[in-house]
Amino acid sequence: MALLTWNEGLSVKVSQFDREHQELVNLINKLHDAMKEGQGKQVIGSVLNGLISYTRAHFAAEERLMKAHGYPLYEKHKREHNHLTMTVLDFQKGYLEGSVPLSQTVMNFLKDWLTGHIQGVDREYGPFLNGKGIK
Ligand SMILES: [Fe+2]
Ligand SMILES: [Fe+2]
Repeated sequence: MALLTWNEGLSVKVSQFDREHQELVNLINKLHDAMKEGQGKQVIGSVLNGLISYTRAHFAAEERLMKAHGYPLYEKHKREHNHLTMTVLDFQKGYLEGSVPLSQTVMNFLKDWLTGHIQGVDREYGPFLNGKGIK
């Protein structure tokens, strides 16, 4: 069973970012599946890499658009992105070094962080960007 399912409750009313969030949900589920299947470091490492690079590209895309339109909560939003990026990179380092296993706790952290971020600060930019003609 999938760890996470995208639903309308996660919509931020900006179609590009809804699509990207759906892909993040897929990638988190893929990582969860690989963990459940007891895949080795090579498979999990590469799924993790994919998740991290997609996340960075997604964060950069949101930041570009927020900045281009003078979004007033840009700094706060970017800080949340930076914080998660650092946490996940730390985890990846520990995982690759063998000191931190990929566990259900890590998966739940990723899931709660993603849904919390989308339903919190991501959803806040919806009305602002919609007002700039971005749907
Ligand atoms: Fe965001
Ligand atoms: Fe986002």
